[in-house]
This record gives sequence, C-alpha cells and structure tokens, in this order.
Amino acid sequence: MSDATKEARGTAVIDRSQSHGTSRFVRACLRQPVDRTPVWLLRQAGRYMPEYMAVRKHHSLLEICRTPEVAAEVTITAAERLGVDAAIIFADLLLPFTPMGVDFEFLAGEGPVVHTPVRTLDQVRALRTDRVDELSYVAKAIERVAKHFAPPRADGDQLGIIGFCGAPFTLASYMIEGGSSRNYIETKRLMYGDRTAWQLLMEKLVEVLVGYAAQQVEAGADVIQIFDSWAGALGVTDYREYCLAPTTELVRRVQALGVPVIYFGVDTASLLPTMRQTGADVIGLDWRIPLAEGWKAVGEGCAVQGNLDPITLFAPQDVLRLRVREVLDAAGGRPGHIFNLGHGIVPGTPVENVIQTVQWVKEFGTR
Ligand code: CP3
Repeated sequence: MSDATKEARGTAVIDRSQSHGTSRFVRACLRQPVDRTPVWLLRQAGRYMPEYMAVRKHHSLLEICRTPEVAAEVTITAAERLGVDAAIIFADLLLPFTPMGVDFEFLAGEGPVVHTPVRTLDQVRALRTDRVDELSYVAKAIERVAKHFAPPRADGDQLGIIGFCGAPFTLASYMIEGGSSRNYIETKRLMYGDRTAWQLLMEKLVEVLVGYAAQQVEAGADVIQIFDSWAGALGVTDYREYCLAPTTELVRRVQALGVPVIYFGVDTASLLPTMRQTGADVIGLDWRIPLAEGWKAVGEGCAVQGNLDPITLFAPQDVLRLRVREVLDAAGGRPGHIFNLGHGIVPGTPVENVIQTVQWVKEFGTR
C-alpha cells in the first residue's frame, strides 16, 4: 500500500480502548458505538450477481483470484452495487494450497477437488511453508481495493476492507478429504489416529496462514475474517482437543498484526463458547441459532456478526423485511453487532432482495 493510502486509512496498530477511525464496520468489530449497524454479506461477490457472471464468462474462478485487477474489480463492483459498509477481497479459501505443494482445481458442479489428498505423515512432512510470497497477488488486489476506497464516502464513513483465510481445521478437511465432505471420515481418521501428523499439519497451516494474513494487512486489510466453515462437523470435545489450540494461535498472531479478527463457522451453536476462547474479536454466527441466544453463548465481551438465513432472500419481501427486523431487534442496538447473513448468498438469489436487505438494515439499524 502507498504511504498516502496508509495515511488515509489510519494506523495499523489497534488501541482497543480508543475510538478507531471513521469506519463504522471496524468500530463495531471493537464494540465501539456506531451511528448505525454496519452491514456486509457473506459471498457478496458471487454467481447470483450478473456483473460477476459477466466476468466469469471470460475467466475461470482461479484466474479471477490470481489477477489483481480483476479480483479488485469484482470486489469493488459488489460492494458498490449493494451499498454495504465493507468489501471482502475476492479470493478463495484454498489458494494457500498451491504454495504448500497441494494441487487442486474447481470442477463445475463439484466444487474444489484436491487430486492427491494428504493422508500420511510423510505427505504432511512434505508440505512447504516457505513459499507464502507466491500468494502476493491477493495482497496486490487488496492494495487496489484499499486505494479505491481510501476517500471517505458521502456519509463520511470509510468502507472497511476485509481480508480472509481459512481456519486450520476447515483447510485440513479439504486437504485430507480431497474436496467437500459429508462425514469427514478421512479427516477424523487422521486426527484420531496420527497425533503427530495432525499436529504437524495444524502447525504448518498456521505458519502459512499467518504469513498470508500479514501480506493482506500490510496491503490494507482493516480486519481479517477466519473461515472455519466446517467446524460444526466436530463435537465440543474434539474441537477442544484437536482444533482450539492451533486456531487460538492463529487468532492471536493475526491480532498481533494490528487488526481485529472475525471467526466464523457453520452449525456452531454448541461450539460457540469454545470458539470464543480463541480470543477472536468477533464471532460470526450461522443462521440456525437465534442471534440473542448466540450472543449470550459467546458472552457480552465479544462482538457478533450475523445471522440472517441466506435463503430468506428468496422469500416475499414482507417476510424478508420481518426477518431483517428480527435480527436487528435481537441485537437491540448494543455496540458490537455487524449485520450479515448466517452463511453465504447462494446462486439464483434475487439481486433486488439483496439490495433491499442492505437498505432495510441501514433504515432500521440507525440509532
Ligand atoms: O464475496 C465473496 O465472499 C466471494 C469471495 C469468496 C470465494 N470463496 C469465491 C468463490 C470467499 C470469501 C470464499 C471462501 C470460501 N471458499 C469458503 C468459506 C466460505 C463459506 O462459504 O463457508 C469455502 C468453504 C470455500 C471453498 C469453495 N470455493 C467451495 C466449497 C466452492 C464451491 C461452492 C459452490 O457453490 O460451487 C468454491 C468456489 C467459489 N469460491 C465460488 C466463489 C464465488 C463459486 C464458484 C465460481 O464462481 O465458479
């Protein structure tokens, strides 16, 4: 990031006791008072959006991710079209696999496929952690987005810029299963059966993810979101025994870069108090738990993000409006709520309902 951009976006080190800059999104992450509830949406740049599909006509998903001008354009277009308070960089969870030596591709209709799944100690030993620099295309895209959004908006607020990475468990599950999974049998087989391999895998992932997050923060990310999308596949005992320590280390080391951390997973109702122990600034709630109940489970000393069911966006507008209100009412205007969905927008979602939802949050969420 250029010095001018850095200056415009404020300092990198957070003082948690002080009001943080002019971004209501970042302030809410730190549980500071805001003029209205900030809003952004998981998968806000995606296949439901005609502008994204137009870009996808000419580029594969990985081409978009690896071309900073295009990734930045997709990120900016989605944020501006929706009028949200934060832009999440367009990238994918699996990008760090390449410098680690794990080949993968995205197959239409199937999602990610890892051709040689990592299932033995020798394979874990062979994973590289010294080539994180190869991911610098993501930082370059963030630089462009940060520069674009450096000037404050018409309402005086500065748009937040979100960098992200996967959590060790969720990334390990893709590496070990070789793709998406229902029962996580191979992941759990390794986790239970080979403590040495599991621990080394967790350590290597954390090492790479910290370096990757550092590049993103240096480039201008205001906040890092850690996606533990499939943590809900674990019971509390296993989460504690196999995932809490490496995830906590990742959270701490990312916070040490000077940014708040949002930690999100799906189907996590039973895990929330334990996820909170990672020390994340914000816990992302999935849509299955009522927001007030989720907030109670993580405790008042933590901010929350969420948690409208993304499929509500297919409902008639009177139903949708009511559900948006319910989420805001459950948060009750307490500092530390960021409005979001409880998981990503799916293909086929009517764009006008997404835009309307953002408008309603702005209207109903004003103090
Ligand atoms: O605005 C945004 O949020 C888009 C940026 C983004 C993508 N992936 C681009 C993408 C983000 C934040 C991700 C994170 C990601 N990737 C997660 C965590 C989020 C979650 O949903 O829990 C996960 C699990 C992945 C791995 C992944 N990438 C899967 C399972 C798939 C296939 C999903 C499907 O519906 O087909 C992807 C592909 C992918 N990554 C798409 C996008 C926009 C859709 C495919 C495409 O455009 O070809």
